[in-house]
Amino acid sequence: MPAVVLIGAQWGDEGKGKATDVLGRRVDHVVKFNGGNNAGHTVVIGDEKYALHLLPSGILTPGCTPVIGNGVVIDLAVLFEELEGLQARGVDTSRLVVSANAHVIPPYNRVLDKVTERFLGSRRIGTTGRGIGPTYADKMNRVGIRVQDLFDEGILRQKVEGALDFKNQVLAKIYNRRAITVDEVVEELLSHREALRPMVADTGLLLQEALGRGETVLLEAGQATLLDVDHGTYPFVTSSSATAGGACTGSGIPPTSIDRVVAILKAYTTRVGEGPFPTELLDDMGEHLRKTGHEYGTTTGRPRRCGWFDAVIGRYAARVNGVTDFVITKLDTLSGLDTVPVCVAYDVDGVRHDDMPMTQSDFHHAKPVYEELPGWWEDISHCRDFDELPANARRYVERVEELVGQRVSAIGVGPGRDEIIVRHDLLDA
Ligand code: GDP
Ligand code: IMO
Ligand code: MG
Repeated sequence: MPAVVLIGAQWGDEGKGKATDVLGRRVDHVVKFNGGNNAGHTVVIGDEKYALHLLPSGILTPGCTPVIGNGVVIDLAVLFEELEGLQARGVDTSRLVVSANAHVIPPYNRVLDKVTERFLGSRRIGTTGRGIGPTYADKMNRVGIRVQDLFDEGILRQKVEGALDFKNQVLAKIYNRRAITVDEVVEELLSHREALRPMVADTGLLLQEALGRGETVLLEAGQATLLDVDHGTYPFVTSSSATAGGACTGSGIPPTSIDRVVAILKAYTTRVGEGPFPTELLDDMGEHLRKTGHEYGTTTGRPRRCGWFDAVIGRYAARVNGVTDFVITKLDTLSGLDTVPVCVAYDVDGVRHDDMPMTQSDFHHAKPVYEELPGWWEDISHCRDFDELPANARRYVERVEELVGQRVSAIGVGPGRDEIIVRHDLLDA
């Protein structure tokens, strides 16, 4: 089995961490290929709950090699904090490998992320404030700092100087903030150098060799399709490639090595931060989903915006990512409703759209066209077989499957590792 990509189909927090953990037990490598500590993945193992931000969820699986790919941006202080937290809980983190080409988040970009959001006011994106956007901007602008730069102090200093020449002007003259010195930045970055050294590798080569030996590689996305910088609801997106294409650029694995794309799809929809959201529920029902589904951010603790399932988004995710299998998560959260509305299309200023509208202006005007499906009341968290689900829950899954046009291979019925119904093996073709 070659490489498998796992992505989020909506606006994030679909349950990618749990799905990766479930699959991680059967793969040799789990690679994080985009994003940074803006991600928040919750994995529940027995009574233990782990919140991962920067580390691939494979870190929790003994024997699996977790890899931070070149497409990731790393806050080194967060990396070591997270590692120490896991080590204190008895997790063996010694297998972690970090790409020499990954970019680091320098302290000035954390500051810039926050002050820019404040400056934007009502036009803000609602970022996580972790310096993600400015660091990817630096990467594209070719003024970024990479992991490998830490091992050449002269080069590191030159690069930090170059970046600060410009950044300090912005900080001081536009945002009225204190300028940051080259020394403090270099010192902070170098303070992590020796701890980092043994983890650093040419991860593209390492993964290619692993594939050559017939080993399995799982490429795990942070964020999700509609937060992708190209295919998402721009500008209300993150600054990386969170779709399946990003798995190649962010890891160095070629497209021809990938034969499976698994998309995680929540049984309803949530979003954190600003931006359009056609099926958003601003009433008691939204609050009900938030409470029942515990929809509060893993990273920032912000209440997640909640709404009904949107099949236009599901179809779009299937198309953009070349999805081979969907995993529906949190079906259990929908138990206890008389009827469950599902958005099948949009009405945009009187015109029906079955596909994602071409422009963001149209997407902002999209009104959901709902189909009402009958609900179910039973607790489904104990179900392990599709046939054990109440008839209306099965009907819901089958209707979603029809609407998104690709098979639903697994169904989450609770946060725990084993609370899942598998209909088709996600790793065996
Ligand atoms: P990620 O960012 O995609 O990894 O998702 P998060 O971890 O941010 O959010 C998903 C939340 O749903 C976490 O708290 C998970 O423990 C939980 N979860 C995942 N799958 C299921 C499921 O099938 N049912 C329920 N009730 N919770 C789930
Ligand atoms: P996981 O991996 C949900 C959102 C932020 C904001 C926008 C840009 O847990 O699914 P950024 O800090 O990335 O520049 O913020 O993207 N966002 C997420 N929303 N889940 C995530 O990650 C997210 N990562 C970023 O809320 O709207
Ligand atoms: Mg999350």
